[in-house]
Amino acid sequence: MRKDYMIVSDTEVDETAFVADYWTKVWEKQGGPKSQVDQIPNKAEYRIMKPYLDRLQKPARILDGGCGLGDWTARLTQEGFSVVGLDLSVKTVAQLEDIFPDCDFQVGDIRETGAADNSFDAYFSWGVFEHFENGPQDCIAEALRVLKPGGYLFMSTPLDNLRHALRGTFAGKRAFEGESRFYQYRFTRAELSTELSKGGFDVLKLHPIHKRQGVLRSLHHEFKMPYEWFLTKGMSAALAPFVPGVFIAHMVLAVARKPE
Ligand SMILES: C[S@@+](CC[C@H](N)C(=O)[O-])C[C@H]1O[C@@H](n2cnc3c(N)ncnc32)[C@H](O)[C@@H]1O
Repeated sequence: MRKDYMIVSDTEVDETAFVADYWTKVWEKQGGPKSQVDQIPNKAEYRIMKPYLDRLQKPARILDGGCGLGDWTARLTQEGFSVVGLDLSVKTVAQLEDIFPDCDFQVGDIRETGAADNSFDAYFSWGVFEHFENGPQDCIAEALRVLKPGGYLFMSTPLDNLRHALRGTFAGKRAFEGESRFYQYRFTRAELSTELSKGGFDVLKLHPIHKRQGVLRSLHHEFKMPYEWFLTKGMSAALAPFVPGVFIAHMVLAVARKPE
């Protein structure tokens, strides 16, 4: 597991408050929840998860851990599942309740959800388990507890891809000692699989995903091309299909199952 750090003005803020505040600001900067539910089926995560969800009897109960702007919760609710969207960001959840009145959004922590044991048929979480410096085991243990035996876990984290390995630590602490704090872990496929197995899950698949985002970041970091240039975006789209996922993918998605 490789650590990424970020520059901050105050290193004393409690970790959970830091994460909640950071994401609240990210979502505010993006204009808050906008209901982009129609875009969900185009996403790699959806294509991977769909065949498993199709096996569930509706209205199966699904947890969206760290639901962010809420589109996944809304989409799967529309499809007839009984979905709980859980997020640390109080402000974002309040906005989500206004925009999606028919959905169940709750403020909460995926490390301690308050849900009953064995109460969900499936649990998905995109880009959340990596945010705590003591590692992903608290998130994994809670996922195991709330899933029914045989329930599916779908989760993604940043991939420690070969580009990062060749380049050395992506944003090493040494670069800004004294004014930075832990931001996230990135995992190799083997590391993520080991963490999930250690936490009691049977790991079924590991998919490197978001290659285009990986190429975009490479063009930016290695070739100093601004993210917003059309050329950067165009080259990312054109090159991504030809670069192996393990070399360039930005995220890795794991499909795992709680033993029966
Ligand atoms: C990378 S964003 C992902 C958002 C969403 N899953 C998506 O794919 O669009 C991480 C989200 O997880 C939330 N989050 C981080 N740690 C959390 C925790 N321990 N419990 C609940 N939500 C958390 C953040 O507030 C943020 O909205």
